[in-house]
Amino acid sequence: MPDQKNDDEVVQNMKPPYQNPKGVHDILPEDHEYHTFIKKVVRHRCRQAGFRRITTPIFEFTDVFQRTLGADTDVVSKEMYVFQDKKGRSLTLKPEGTAGVMRSYIQHNMREWPQPVALYYIEPHFRYDRPQKGRYRQFWQLGFEIIGECDAALDAQIIQLSRQILKDLGIADVFTLQLNTIGTPEARKAYTQVLQDYYAGKERSLCEDCRYRLTTNPLRLLDCKQEDCRILAELAPKMKDYLDKESVDFHEELKSYLDEMEIDYVENPRLVRGLDYYAKTVFEFWDKNEGAQNAIGGGGRYDGLCELLGGPKTPGTGFAAGMERLIANMKIKKIKVPKKDDLHVFVAQLGLEAKKKCLPLMEELRNEGIKTMGALGKGAIRDQLGLANKFKVPYTVLIGITEVREGTAIIRNMAKGTQETVQFDKVTSVLKKKIGEKNLDKYSPGELLYS
Ligand code: HAM
Repeated sequence: MPDQKNDDEVVQNMKPPYQNPKGVHDILPEDHEYHTFIKKVVRHRCRQAGFRRITTPIFEFTDVFQRTLGADTDVVSKEMYVFQDKKGRSLTLKPEGTAGVMRSYIQHNMREWPQPVALYYIEPHFRYDRPQKGRYRQFWQLGFEIIGECDAALDAQIIQLSRQILKDLGIADVFTLQLNTIGTPEARKAYTQVLQDYYAGKERSLCEDCRYRLTTNPLRLLDCKQEDCRILAELAPKMKDYLDKESVDFHEELKSYLDEMEIDYVENPRLVRGLDYYAKTVFEFWDKNEGAQNAIGGGGRYDGLCELLGGPKTPGTGFAAGMERLIANMKIKKIKVPKKDDLHVFVAQLGLEAKKKCLPLMEELRNEGIKTMGALGKGAIRDQLGLANKFKVPYTVLIGITEVREGTAIIRNMAKGTQETVQFDKVTSVLKKKIGEKNLDKYSPGELLYS
């Protein structure tokens, strides 16, 4: 007879032949409890503020991102998952949500909807980033956009909503709101020239990335995290001295709204964001200890984005946060979310006739909001009770040959080890009482309406 114990050990010590690719991960049930909680908060807060949910496809034509995010940004030049379909068309897994939402706004003529159009999303995104803490190749973002109107009060509303969500998740105090304005594209162009002049002759002190960015995307030199680059950036001419009056006034107005709502912010003249479509307002939530590293979220105004996608001049403003980073911070702060997966009842049975009774009983229990699981295999009652213990259920219903014959069932209190016999048709009502009305899982998606 083969040595079963030895075989099991071999299997345990073997590395599974397939692992997930680097930089992506499974969301296991425990983390899904966090995902579910965050989604609920986002849905609730967005609904309250008049946002409606949108889902754009996982991939778009590459142009949608290339034209809008900026060819010289890290996202486009290094991080996009680009592939060709069978007809040779270039497609890209979405690295962010805003460009796709704007493509959809134009395609579905949302200009005809009441303006502004407020939309939110909770979606996976893809960036071929170097995997490290807080940086993944597939990651989830929650985001929201207000498109169709240009007003500093809308930027304030986006910031307020972002902050409210961080508060609801219990982690608002971990972050500071970093705020800046990068002005209109014209003002930025003039400032870019000033920056290039400032850095001329200093190239040798720059990191390799910055040396390259000096010709392609000089603004990014301002938020480089390398020590030498940071020192040079601190001494660089300030963007605010080259901004247009309209942007300065807009920024002052935004700050007055934030003050009114008692939202603290840090004015950060070096904050530029990593995507090209921004104009005027930019902001990020930075970890108070780690700074820009692993910002939890960021956003800003993108008044030129619609035109880049071939649409009419249409302003917009928005924000997105990384769900993995939110969850990591909730865990660091030891914030627990409601555990909705815990079971109430385990149904154990012995014999075919008992099993026949179990299936409708389990359906009835579930319909009454009692979360129920059953061992419908052939195991001995003792094994089934062992399983019930592993599931940590408070109650087990036992039905054996005697119970079938007498039309009864045994209800066992697992913590106390006590049990009682009840009439089979009373099992549900007895259990409901024991579990308590308020603990039942009575969620209803709502009534169906027939027109
Ligand atoms: P973003 O700053 O590129 O902005 O990304 C927003 C957030 O997504 C980041 O702050 C971070 O939490 C998360 N994130 C980004 N890349 C990764 C990654 N590789 N792994 C894990 N998390 C990541 C945007 O995407 C803009 N679309 C935001 C926006 C919306 N602007 C206006 N509307």
